[in-house]
Amino acid sequence: MKNILVTGGYGFIGVNFIRYVFEKTDFDGRIINLDKLTYAANPFSLSDIAKKMGKRYVFVRGDIKEEELVEDVFRKYEIDTVIHFAAESHVDRSIVDPGEFVKTNVFGTFVLLNTARKFWGKGDNFIFHHVPTDEVFGSLGEDGYFSEDTKYSPRSPYSASKASSDHLVRAYYHTYGLPVTMSNCSNNYGQYQFPEKLIPLMILNILEKKPLPVYGDGSNIRDWLYVEDHARAIWMILKNRKIGESYNIGGENEWRNIDLVNKLCEIMDKKIPSDKFSSYKELITFVKDRPGHDYRYAMDCSKIKRELGWKPSVSFEEGLERTADWYLANKEWVENIKTGEYQRWIEKNYGNR
Ligand code: NAD
Ligand code: TYD
Repeated sequence: MKNILVTGGYGFIGVNFIRYVFEKTDFDGRIINLDKLTYAANPFSLSDIAKKMGKRYVFVRGDIKEEELVEDVFRKYEIDTVIHFAAESHVDRSIVDPGEFVKTNVFGTFVLLNTARKFWGKGDNFIFHHVPTDEVFGSLGEDGYFSEDTKYSPRSPYSASKASSDHLVRAYYHTYGLPVTMSNCSNNYGQYQFPEKLIPLMILNILEKKPLPVYGDGSNIRDWLYVEDHARAIWMILKNRKIGESYNIGGENEWRNIDLVNKLCEIMDKKIPSDKFSSYKELITFVKDRPGHDYRYAMDCSKIKRELGWKPSVSFEEGLERTADWYLANKEWVENIKTGEYQRWIEKNYGNR
């Protein structure tokens, strides 16, 4: 791997992945970050990396749906590895406005695959790693786990668009021999996550003493993984290069939403005790449920454990502490992303796309 194209590298997982590769692996090549800079992106999340890495880090502002631009990137930077994170990623937004999900997640992935097909040159070195989600498998009841062989059954516009992109990736492997790998991961949490997802939203609402909106009765279950463990898993898959394989990645760490929010309140009660509330739990408010709310996701990760020796390394307690500390220590990042200050900076410096 010499020239890695990371799509969506200014989003939550992309930022953590790029940091992981530069800071914790022996990679000595170049990363090209292609990102459209949507509301979820944050150009300042990698300022220190950009400075430190010099020519080994390149940012291209661009949309994965623009074929000419994507081709230029492949040609100019002699891409040999693609890690495809770029996506519209929030289920609630997909319910309100599914169109952009179809455009970016389905058509955008098609453009990348088609361009990769033109440029990979049948060499041994090329690899296209796609990053799907556990949500493509649908919803579980009280028992059972998703395995790599579980039938796809997406139920939200987000997961349906992601599932479509996964099918295209597999089709390019089977039809054209494009060297691909895939990893379906459960809910990630950690530093640099846009505060519309459950954990950062709750932390920031606690800081502002705002209500903590729990959908329905809070009994829905998610499996949580610390984002750096996800980055490490992807890196191991890339190094291992088992073309055509997909791996399930998860935290083996299932929580009912209400228990998780209670736990976060307890952590924040200790870190920033309130003189108004005996516990931030008093802020918990049950609100109208998400339409089509998937009940439970849970991953069987035995394949990646067995074949690659990967397992989660950060306990949930430790990960939540780190995450809360990060949001407390990075008030400027939080303020800028919440007020849209970053978007104004992007428009001033790059224009409004
Ligand atoms: P995110 O929303 O934080 O970031 C997405 C990034 O993609 C942003 O930087 C955005 O600007 C960029 N982007 C969006 N549309 C683009 C386009 N048309 N062209 C170029 N760039 C574009 O998302 P995330 O949480 O970092 O997720 C990254 C990937 O991982 C997604 O594909 C998501 O489906 C998948 N995933 C996420 C989770 C999770 O818990 N967050 C779990 C499993 C899989
Ligand atoms: P989210 O972070 O949006 O991830 P996903 O929907 O992709 O799993 O939501 C995680 C869980 O938390 C999900 O069951 C919905 C629930 N939730 C709330 O109860 N309140 C909220 O404000 C949000 C954003 C999510």
